[in-house]
Amino acid sequence: MRLDLPWEGHDSPINRGSHLRKGEEVTMRYVGIDLGTTNSTISVAHLDQDGKHITPVTLDITQLDESGSNISLEKTLPSALFVDEQDQPYIGRYARKMAHFYPQNVIREAKRYMGEEVSWPINEKKYRPETVSSYILKAMKMQAEQYYMGEPVDSVVITVPANFNFQQDKATRVAAELAGFAKDKIHTIPEPTAALLDFLNEEKKLHPDSRKIQFHGQSKNLMVFDLGGGTCDVSILQVKENATGDLDIQELSISQYMELGGLDFDRLVAKYLLEKLCLETGYTIQTLQREFRSEFPQIRESLLSIAEKFKIHFASQINHKLIMQQTDYYENKEQFDQLTFRYTLTSPEKLATIFTMTKKEYDQIVEPLLYAQLSSSVNIEEPILNALSQAKKGEMKKEEIDAVFLVGGMTFYPAVQERIYELFDKRLKPIRSVNPMYAVSRGAAVYHDMVANKREEAATKIGVKNTIQNNVFIRVFKSDSVALLEKGTSLPYERLIEDEFFVTGPHKTVYGMKLDLFTAEDPKSPITKNLKSASITFKEPVEVGAPLILQVKCNEERDVSVKAWLKGKESEVIDVNVGSHVWEQEEKEFHIKNLDKIKFDS
Ligand SMILES: Nc1ncnc2c1ncn2[C@@H]1O[C@H](COP(=O)(O)OP(=O)(O)OP(=O)(O)O)[C@@H](O)[C@H]1O
Ligand SMILES: [Mg+2]
Repeated sequence: MRLDLPWEGHDSPINRGSHLRKGEEVTMRYVGIDLGTTNSTISVAHLDQDGKHITPVTLDITQLDESGSNISLEKTLPSALFVDEQDQPYIGRYARKMAHFYPQNVIREAKRYMGEEVSWPINEKKYRPETVSSYILKAMKMQAEQYYMGEPVDSVVITVPANFNFQQDKATRVAAELAGFAKDKIHTIPEPTAALLDFLNEEKKLHPDSRKIQFHGQSKNLMVFDLGGGTCDVSILQVKENATGDLDIQELSISQYMELGGLDFDRLVAKYLLEKLCLETGYTIQTLQREFRSEFPQIRESLLSIAEKFKIHFASQINHKLIMQQTDYYENKEQFDQLTFRYTLTSPEKLATIFTMTKKEYDQIVEPLLYAQLSSSVNIEEPILNALSQAKKGEMKKEEIDAVFLVGGMTFYPAVQERIYELFDKRLKPIRSVNPMYAVSRGAAVYHDMVANKREEAATKIGVKNTIQNNVFIRVFKSDSVALLEKGTSLPYERLIEDEFFVTGPHKTVYGMKLDLFTAEDPKSPITKNLKSASITFKEPVEVGAPLILQVKCNEERDVSVKAWLKGKESEVIDVNVGSHVWEQEEKEFHIKNLDKIKFDS
């Protein structure tokens, strides 16, 4: 199945910018955004001069540097929002740095809360996860418009973790709409699929003998392992090459949503550094916290950023050495064990300490995040095994995977690569994308271009199957759970739920009922994630036990709508709000105005 997206066609307004394609009258703007937990990136796609290949370009993003007085151009934008006392919003590097000084005014990791009914108050204004994301997206949009010489950009492909549920996906779209993208031109695709598209798009440009994956007319099962700042996403995708060289990508499996990323590695190492700091300075954690109460948030931020520096330093040193030696890590890993890095905590002065750590020491600290048996919570092994066991066509064996493909900043770290190599019994050396930090937005831009143009002449044609990401169940008062949506079902989807649903409640008659929605592999599974609750309000009191009919619809944009009516009363249909957030008008207006005030320069 090929996706035929309606959001762009050749009848869009004519814009004569600097990026006209040869022979094209219309400048299309193919923008892909990777809205990450820690970093966001934006890419745009171009068709090469020969008209055969699509090349994505990752844009530099203008932002204030850490000092707040210089402008820096970086391809990554830290997904952080800082709002000062006058409601002035800042995003990016400066905002991230401000967490050291004004932690209450900085919001980071908003992506971890997408779709949840939470907010952070700043100056008595509400900042929800989707509002925070809208500031990041707005900055990206402005960057793209600058790139296209001031021409408006209203269409976008935004990537989301493959296992985002429909409410998380919806919240991402709401953020994009608030940022000014046109509602019907906002599209989301799974991050692993996007990363794979970028990889395959680049492979197609190589001579067949130099390609890392040889199809020889057969289908291959590829695992995409994406470990970023905040989420660990594992997908198994089947890629088929047909006689004409087209590639069809079909999702076979998506791991359960797991909040695990570089931040967890940094937290674990920062905790270790805090213990070391206490040992060196003669405090206990409690006495230190007491004596440095006001500085403590800053100390914690400093330790986290030192922990990140250790990781990046080791990863960069090792990668550099491996390139120089023209060898790979797996055969030579012992030689790096004693690699040492030093970093000094300078403030507060009384706690000044030099931290020294070897790479071996670092690896030992983070072991619980790599091995399921050592871990009491999240680890990278679990989503890999989960993806294998949950494949649509039944459990898959490791041997059925033809290649493992790495994405996300945290996969730079050699111990992560090594663990995956080990998990595949040293049969597969994981393939690293050309740039794990940009692959996702590059792939989103490529996808935007390909599908918008249904480019027949393009060398790579890819069809992506759009499916429902998670099982969604409804739980009602004193009754068994009923499946609303089933994972893996192709979109669009429509279903009537009859004879499974009855009015329940604490009294003989009720005026309404609450539906609790949750995602889980199985309704009885102990691991469930609650979604927003929905409610039905009847026009007149209804007897408990009356049969109720639900109609569920999910379109290709993954908008879910649910309607309900009492059996035999088809004329009295009730819309069930399944969780889209209802804005307070004042709140929305405030943000729409404030979004225009994002400060990029000093
Ligand atoms: N060279 C490097 N070596 C090791 N780790 C790195 C390197 N560069 C970045 N990282 C880590 O990668 C993480 C960020 O990765 P990335 O930008 O892919 O995440 P994200 O897209 O923001 O998050 P997510 O995909 O989970 O939403 C951070 O924890 C960062 O410390
Ligand atoms: Mg990412």
